Amino acid sequence: MTSSVRQMVGERGIVICCGSGGVGKTTTAAVLALEGARAGRRACVVTIDPAKRLADALGLDRLSNTPSQIDGDWPGELWALMLDTKSTFDSLVAKHAGDEEQAAGILANRFYRNISGALSGTQEYMAMEKLFELHDSGKFDLIVVDTPPTRNALDFLDAPRRLTRFLDNRVFRILMMPTRAYLKAVSVATQAFLRTISKVVGTEVVQDAVAFFQAFEGMEEGFRNRAQKVLELLASPETAFVLVASPRRDAITEAMFFADRLKESHIPVATLVVNRMHPRFGAGSAEADRARSHTLAGAPLGAWYANLADFRSLADGEEAHVAALVERITPAPVVRVPFLPNDVHDLDGLAEVATYVVAG
Ligand SMILES: Nc1ncnc2c1ncn2[C@@H]1O[C@H](COP(=O)(O)OP(=O)(O)OP(=O)(O)O)[C@@H](O)[C@H]1O
Ligand SMILES: [Mg+2]
Repeated sequence: MTSSVRQMVGERGIVICCGSGGVGKTTTAAVLALEGARAGRRACVVTIDPAKRLADALGLDRLSNTPSQIDGDWPGELWALMLDTKSTFDSLVAKHAGDEEQAAGILANRFYRNISGALSGTQEYMAMEKLFELHDSGKFDLIVVDTPPTRNALDFLDAPRRLTRFLDNRVFRILMMPTRAYLKAVSVATQAFLRTISKVVGTEVVQDAVAFFQAFEGMEEGFRNRAQKVLELLASPETAFVLVASPRRDAITEAMFFADRLKESHIPVATLVVNRMHPRFGAGSAEADRARSHTLAGAPLGAWYANLADFRSLADGEEAHVAALVERITPAPVVRVPFLPNDVHDLDGLAEVATYVVAG
């Protein structure tokens, strides 16, 4: 029987791995792309801040805007890139500016240089732009997108909207068209507002910002259109969302929050990956082992049973936490990945995790 994950990486065009910080999103994304290549597909993983050793293993020795291919023994292709937010933004500007002069004006603008890296949601937004570009290139059958750690559930879904909202900022729009007659009426208020923010952030910052918005004139439309297309792509049946969680109580609470937000956005969870579960070491109950450890107290076997009881109650506790989450995302399939003795930092490690992910 084909496992649900095999089916997903074999059939879908886009897989988005989301979840809270440190749960294993980057690892899972790489594993799914690897499985895609094994299924004969041209797979590409867009990673965000991968751990250094994993990046090395994937041949990602630096941030890059173009995917690099990883050689290996699989029928498909495996490509990876490490998202470079800043240069993705730069190349978007260069590509979509009206002419070279406009591009140069924006790229040199101090305000742009500050916001292009720091504007909240830029990383998420650039991940989406990159996804759109890779999808549009037609070079890949499967694109797996890793997402940045976020407390705020689906920041990346909101990112296109947030950026366009930022570009729509009324005050700056008014500043860009100071000559229009009907704006004369508001200009007194606007100037008062300007004076106030100039006092707070400094006149130069405001001048830079105004220059930026003037330079950006005419480009917002393209950004808005692509943002709309990305949202359509994310909502299409071609796209699958994988929720990654760890079995710790706080991580489960966050995962529930994610699951609820996805549900509100009418996005079904295609698969839940519970990563780093403690193994249960067979049947038997923690209580019975605990009782035995008391009976055998002082003997070496007593300590051994005490250990076993600890492990079993840890695993039982995790299973209890996970059960609530599983109920929340039903009927999505759930895969459990054990806590491995080592970090997952190379292709062998990814292949090991893959055995659990595809086993279901
Ligand atoms: N099942 C596992 N067993 C052991 N180590 C694991 C397992 N899964 C992931 N790791 C390790 O845990 C660390 C965090 O994993 P990963 O980078 O995939 O998480 P992340 O969700 O992408 O984190 P961040 O939110 O910071 O981006 C990595 O060092 C990874 O190798
Ligand atoms: Mg990560």
